[in-house]
Amino acid sequence: MERTGLGVIGCGFFAQNHLHAWTDLASKGVDIVAVCDVDEAKARAAAEKFGVTNWYKDAETMFRNEKLDLVDIVTRVETHRDVVRQAIRHRVPTIVQKPFGPDLAACRAMADEAQKAGIFLAVHENFRFQVPMRKITDLLRAGTIGTPSWGRISFRTGYDIYKGQPYLAHEERFVLIDLGVHVLDMARVVLGEVDHLSAELQRRNPNVRGEDTATMLLRHRSGAVSIVECTYESRRVPDVFPETLLELEGPKGAIILKPGSVLDVTVEGKTTTHDVDAPVLKWAERPWHIIQESVLATCEHMLKSLRAGRPADTAASDNVRTFGLVEAAYEAGSSGRAVRFA
Ligand SMILES: NC(=O)c1ccc[n+]([C@@H]2O[C@H](COP(=O)([O-])OP(=O)(O)OC[C@H]3O[C@@H](n4cnc5c(N)ncnc54)[C@H](O)[C@@H]3O)[C@@H](O)[C@H]2O)c1
Repeated sequence: MERTGLGVIGCGFFAQNHLHAWTDLASKGVDIVAVCDVDEAKARAAAEKFGVTNWYKDAETMFRNEKLDLVDIVTRVETHRDVVRQAIRHRVPTIVQKPFGPDLAACRAMADEAQKAGIFLAVHENFRFQVPMRKITDLLRAGTIGTPSWGRISFRTGYDIYKGQPYLAHEERFVLIDLGVHVLDMARVVLGEVDHLSAELQRRNPNVRGEDTATMLLRHRSGAVSIVECTYESRRVPDVFPETLLELEGPKGAIILKPGSVLDVTVEGKTTTHDVDAPVLKWAERPWHIIQESVLATCEHMLKSLRAGRPADTAASDNVRTFGLVEAAYEAGSSGRAVRFA
């Protein structure tokens, strides 16, 4: 079996899911050879919990000491550019968590640097790897409802995300960067590239710094139209965090992803209902299990792509297009005008 020696940089809140997923992938030849966090206690704790021999508080030392086949960067966005550059300099294939970078220029620069150096660089954009989304993309590929011409993608919650990620309340650019990247990525996956987009942004929670609600209207190059929305300030019950709801209409029928991971597929007037809930992995817990299973699926996809010598579906160059939509939504939100893509 092929062996892949892995380093993980960042051992905070979300990295725990990555470390579990990579540990599960030991059966596929993944060996976590080192973990790294500038906070020594977190690096040590991760090494102990996941049985990793070597831990570092400095990525440069880790890159120099270890022979890595892959590095997974699970730090916050403001560090991505420096750490990704470091990885490219050391010629180590790299995965970096979303959001890819703090702005479009930084994302483009990282993608260009990786391309010039011929280094695998992928963004851990996991929403398209969730069980319901995998099922929906399979249905679309099979032409089940024909080419969709209308869609709605929606992530609305009031779940206390500030408990696990208190830093989010202080972000100047908030929900579009944190959540918009996911729902806009899904819009590209199901309806294709975008011709123009308009957006209304709101800060409905007075205790956060940035916008917490985004409502966007997209015209896709195919002619399809979609409404793409996300908020961390919804008071609806039931609160289906962290589910993304999705509706698609095509010439032959409709695909409706409803709360509780229930998928209605209507073809020529006849509806079939599917349970598309994710399994609760042994290290996972509700309600996070959908996300946690998608982390495993994303890591496995990255591993397969790397070994096959092909870019990941969410390669840097692909994610730059998703990030372009985020940047356009900020522009449209402040100007009040639709933003067109070249
Ligand atoms: N895809 C998803 O579903 C999802 C969900 C939650 C968070 N995230 C993303 O995960 C990333 C991490 O978020 P988090 O909530 O775990 O943050 P966190 O602050 O809990 O963890 C980040 C860790 O990185 C460490 N760190 C910072 N700079 C470093 C460096 N240069 N070298 C080594 N370690 C360094 C910090 O000490 C910290 O322990 C963010 O980009 C966030 O958007 C993704």
